[in-house]
Amino acid sequence: MKLLNEILGTKYPIIQGGMANIATGEFAAACSNAGALGLIGSGGMDADSLRENIRRCRALTDKPFGVNIMLMHPQADEFAKIVVEEGVKIVTTGAGNPGKYMAAWKAADITVIPVVAAAILAKHLEPLGIDAVIAEGTESGGHVGEMTTMALVPQVVDAVHVPVIAAGGIADGRGLAAALALGACGVQVGTCLLASTECPIHENYKAALLKARDSDTIVTGRISGTPVRVLKNRMSREYVRQEKAGADKMALERFTLGSLRKAVFDGDTESGSLMAGQAAGLLHEVRPVEEIFALMVNDAKNCIGGLHKEITL
Ligand SMILES: Cc1cc2nc3c(=O)[nH]c(=O)nc-3n(C[C@H](O)[C@H](O)[C@H](O)COP(=O)(O)O)c2cc1C
Repeated sequence: MKLLNEILGTKYPIIQGGMANIATGEFAAACSNAGALGLIGSGGMDADSLRENIRRCRALTDKPFGVNIMLMHPQADEFAKIVVEEGVKIVTTGAGNPGKYMAAWKAADITVIPVVAAAILAKHLEPLGIDAVIAEGTESGGHVGEMTTMALVPQVVDAVHVPVIAAGGIADGRGLAAALALGACGVQVGTCLLASTECPIHENYKAALLKARDSDTIVTGRISGTPVRVLKNRMSREYVRQEKAGADKMALERFTLGSLRKAVFDGDTESGSLMAGQAAGLLHEVRPVEEIFALMVNDAKNCIGGLHKEITL
């Protein structure tokens, strides 16, 4: 099996997940320079800022990097053209089917990697000519599906012939080793990078992550149809309470309007949306991304070697 680093031309088999309002050109470049694939999260951007972030990223790294496009973004059509015009070589997509962009992206020799939360979607997308697929379990931070990484990854591996990248709940070498054991060629991580020196989120957000325990996340929007995993706080508890009480979708949307930006930029840990995955409980210090990636790969090697030596089934 080809590992993700061989497919992408990176040092490590790790993708930094594109995170809306967080993964700027500078952050993506820092992750690429540290050996992973850095992704610009176009989620919170408009067309001009996406173009600027791509150019800034390119100026800061000579390593591979990519762009994440959330297909439900109102400017997704424009973003799809910008990545071609700016010569971006790797695109990951979230929340849907990138079919209508595939011809243009393939003509531009772009590596296309959609995120899926169920094997059936991976199977559906494979004939489009996708290059790999990210199987993201519900443990992850941000928008989530229903299935766990443990159950999802091997089923996606069995369903498609393209390489599978595991995401959701992976924050250290044990997680990387487990993902490889499930048949993935590498991992995409988000939550563990929120606690990094380079991550441009407010210090209060980082402090809340370091305090979080395993059960300190909650999913808002399970009932209303847009499930998002965040840290428990006043806003997210109240959201779920109102949702269970039958509040209508518009009222709930008004309630969370701009809440991610409140958390990321203002450090509002009470009414902001502190998107984070269940792996938050594994974060104990803020470290440079270079250290996070190097340790993850080194610990995975030790973990795999240790299993080989110590376990006889
Ligand atoms: C704060 C935050 C924002 C995210 N925003 C996006 C996004 O805009 N697009 C996307 O495809 N995934 C997004 N994700 C998911 C990540 O790209 C990645 O798949 C996920 O974080 C992996 O699981 P983990 O959080 O357990 O590491 C986000 C995750 C976090 C934590």
